[in-house]
Amino acid sequence: MIKILAISGSTRQQSSNHQLIAAIAARYASQAELTLFNGLTELPHFNPDLDQDQPPAAVAAFREQLRGADAVLICTPEYAIGVPGSLKNAIDWTVSSMEFSKKPVALITAGTSGVHAHKSLLGTLLIIESRMREEMQLVIPAIKTKMSPDGVITHGETLTAIDRLMHALLSVATAPREDDIYLNPPAFNKV
Ligand SMILES: Cc1cc2nc3c(=O)[nH]c(=O)nc-3n(C[C@H](O)[C@H](O)[C@H](O)COP(=O)(O)O)c2cc1C
Repeated sequence: MIKILAISGSTRQQSSNHQLIAAIAARYASQAELTLFNGLTELPHFNPDLDQDQPPAAVAAFREQLRGADAVLICTPEYAIGVPGSLKNAIDWTVSSMEFSKKPVALITAGTSGVHAHKSLLGTLLIIESRMREEMQLVIPAIKTKMSPDGVITHGETLTAIDRLMHALLSVATAPREDDIYLNPPAFNKV
């Protein structure tokens, strides 16, 4: 069983990104144990002065969960043509401790449009050395038209693209290759 830590860039209760993670967790329940990281709002604002041998407890717990995961799935909306601040804040806490280095990571940006946040996050994930293949990233625009209000993915193309992404994530987590570093972020996948 592959252990996947899912991180939602939305802190909203009725988030479509949370629903997406829940739908993926159910669809892949026989192959992966997907756990939603629920401490995003507990993390303090990133401050290099606090990034010492004994970091804040919430940061230590986040890093531990990342280290214990075989792979990471990030699902996020875009806010104001950028990456949601709380998600970027969480990632910034891992730059010095390098939990994302060589970690298989899949990225889904799901919202109204999402292309700017997606592009920016791909650059960030590349610089922190995540293991990504081209198939492990996907933009899902107009997410609310592709899911039912209770979180069932109703759009066939979206399901196919998610299957492609998850297949790649699971295969990188199982058998990583040295060339699993995605070097061409501008060409992103979109449904
Ligand atoms: C403050 C704010 C800013 C937003 N800015 C953008 C944006 O720049 N681009 C975009 O595609 N969607 C934008 N949206 C719409 C979100 O992507 C959309 O509401 C998405 O479904 C939110 O994700 P969630 O349902 O997981 O919370 C914005 C939403 C909010 C609340």
